[in-house]
Amino acid sequence: MLTLGIETSCDETAAAVVRRDDASGGEVVSNVVLSQVDQHAAFGGVVPEIAARAHVEALDRVIAAALTDASVTLGDIDCVGATAGPGLIGGLLVGLTTAKALCWAADTPLYAINHLEGHALTPRLTDSVAFPYLLLLMSGGHTQLVSVEGLGDYRLLGGTIDDAVGEAFDKTAKLLGLGYPGGPAVENLARDGNATRFDLPRPLKGRAGADFSFAGLKTAVRLAAEGQAPLSTQTTADLAASFQRAAIDCLVDRTGNALNMPGQPAHTALVAAGGVAANQAVRARLADIAKQHGLPFVVPPARLCGDNAAMIAWAAAEHFADDGGAGTPDALAAPALARWPLDARARPASTA
Ligand code: KG4
Ligand code: ZN
Repeated sequence: MLTLGIETSCDETAAAVVRRDDASGGEVVSNVVLSQVDQHAAFGGVVPEIAARAHVEALDRVIAAALTDASVTLGDIDCVGATAGPGLIGGLLVGLTTAKALCWAADTPLYAINHLEGHALTPRLTDSVAFPYLLLLMSGGHTQLVSVEGLGDYRLLGGTIDDAVGEAFDKTAKLLGLGYPGGPAVENLARDGNATRFDLPRPLKGRAGADFSFAGLKTAVRLAAEGQAPLSTQTTADLAASFQRAAIDCLVDRTGNALNMPGQPAHTALVAAGGVAANQAVRARLADIAKQHGLPFVVPPARLCGDNAAMIAWAAAEHFADDGGAGTPDALAAPALARWPLDARARPASTA
């Protein structure tokens, strides 16, 4: 079966076609991602109104390109998946409304997909990972440890009580004058830096549980940078390296706690997802901790770690296989949701 995916929750306008079959699993047939980074760079972050307008202007072309790249037409598509939340409401409305129109016109089932579920299921597309697995989701808006126990069965073990780790990377980059988006810039600079020069805090490290906190670390980077102003090239690199080491120490400590939590099912793998999972230093340390626990470490290729529509198409394909193509109930009335926790049972503090 073939699925068209549409993703517009933040600052990438994306469409993709994914193939799924019971025997061989998933295959990305086309994957078009149009980044709006240039339009937001001058503002140091994503401006919601600019994002929504850019999605309106680009989405038709991006969908057409995804179909053309896959050498298919809308008539070949078995279902459409569109991100319905969480994210910036203007962009979500653009993608979801477009998907509704396509599905209505082509008489095709529509799946309103949770963006976080897209990230969570990606390792099943890329590596056919079996349920249950432990997922560390690290993006610009979310940092969560989730026990992925089945399709639609996501148990939140911990989440951030303040900033997301990607946000901490972005804010550190801004502070060091590295521009936006900050994660890749911090990673590059950190390679030339001394990670032990600045003794930065590791919030919650050594404490019980699997929640995260990055606000104190971000503040400590700011104070250290102010104390060193004007920053030399070497000091900037040392700050980037010290920050990255501290952030990774937190990620590893909390992931270790999640792996040791009582009452877990027998996880088949430790899986990383979200934009920060593209970071090589993050990957290396997570691979170590997975090994210590005797688990394979699975991380999708970088182009499927950051926001993309292949992951949304895949989530829809999994639901299609599960419900026989019924689609989201009353799909044409499905709402876009700025907030939509992956685990509806979770306490609010961990779903921020
Ligand atoms: O999953 P994603 O593409 O979008 C959201 O849903 O947020 O994640 C984007 C985040 C940004 O904060 C970006 O700075 C971070 O992922 N990121 C990185 C790297 N590449 C992207 N952070 C650290 N190192 C990287 N190489
Ligand atoms: Zn994302």
